[in-house]
Amino acid sequence: MSTTNRQVRLAARPVGEPRPTDWQHVEEPVGEPGDGEFLVRVLCLSIDPAMRGWMNAGRSYIRPVEIGEVMRAGAVGRVVASHHPGFAVGDHVSGSFGVQEYCVSNGLGVTKVDPGAAPLPTYLGTLGMSGLTAYFGLIDIGRPEPGQTVVVSGAAGAVGSVVGQIAKILGCRVVGIAGGADKCRMIVEEFGFDAAIDYQSEDVRKALREHAPNGVDVYFDNVGGEILDAVLLCLARGARIVVCGAISQYNSTKPQGPANYLSLLVNRATMTGMVVFDYADRYGEGIAKMAAWRAEGRLKSLEDVVSGSVDDFPDTLMRLFRGENRGKLVLKIAD
Ligand SMILES: NC(=O)c1ccc[n+]([C@@H]2O[C@H](COP(=O)([O-])OP(=O)(O)OC[C@H]3O[C@@H](n4cnc5c(N)ncnc54)[C@H](OP(=O)(O)O)[C@@H]3O)[C@@H](O)[C@H]2O)c1
Repeated sequence: MSTTNRQVRLAARPVGEPRPTDWQHVEEPVGEPGDGEFLVRVLCLSIDPAMRGWMNAGRSYIRPVEIGEVMRAGAVGRVVASHHPGFAVGDHVSGSFGVQEYCVSNGLGVTKVDPGAAPLPTYLGTLGMSGLTAYFGLIDIGRPEPGQTVVVSGAAGAVGSVVGQIAKILGCRVVGIAGGADKCRMIVEEFGFDAAIDYQSEDVRKALREHAPNGVDVYFDNVGGEILDAVLLCLARGARIVVCGAISQYNSTKPQGPANYLSLLVNRATMTGMVVFDYADRYGEGIAKMAAWRAEGRLKSLEDVVSGSVDDFPDTLMRLFRGENRGKLVLKIAD
């Protein structure tokens, strides 16, 4: 085992797109777990659009990462030393271990995962936060009914690809919005969506009129901006918009709000924000459901695994904003 722990810390709060100078790459001695603690060798890091928000100062649903602090990141790893009765050497675990090679944990917020049941990156995707976000956002806030039309943006990504598949399992018509012909082909042919709209080459509003002729009953929004505005003009009466994220705005210094919001009034529609952490006491329910669908072959997991070291984190994060990932983006830093 190495005696040094390589880490990526936040060096500055970015203005606009994060730059290499916003990060500090450091090494410190590997921590010693005390009583009731264990040491995790981090193996795979979850790369999330939300990380961009955590770099900002100011009030949010979670406290900002402080300047000089190890960057927050969900991860899976293996216990390599333990003085904790609930976690033994060799256990595989999932938790918020940060962008570093080793993490000392007291077990709070840490769950055991079984690498025999699913590959480790899947516990960051479909069987992790991305899947839970899709599950609770769609079912609790979207409340789709069989036969209704569900539209999801970021449809070839970690959350979006699961939203579309769950909506299909629930008997809905599903239209995905994604960037590029390849991603659009993938969500229809591999994930079973009914139709796809390539926002980079199509007029989203016109395409929605074609693919959702009776209007959109549920819109699961991952991107915000112009796409949200286009969908707002195509709502069915009583539509529900799930505000899950707005990646198109995360690097903007002046975020663009929805101009067409009066469509909510006309269509007696609602737009509701959701944060997955609010469902912590129901995670077990969501994971059990998705694991069962996965075992039955009804829910496919797609992980986009980049192999490297913690030093590759800053560039890997930017892949999300360049649309370079398909499914859940994971940085694998050790076997
Ligand atoms: N509320 C919560 O509790 C919660 C929890 C987890 C995630 N989220 C949110 O869910 C959303 C999806 O997260 P994810 O982890 O599944 O990421 P993801 O969809 O796997 O990756 C991000 C994707 O966003 C798309 N994108 C990037 N820039 C864009 C732009 N300017 N306009 C339109 N699309 C753009 C890209 O796909 P294309 O190539 O298709 O453009 C990219 O692949 C994010 O907004 C995230 O913040 C919310």
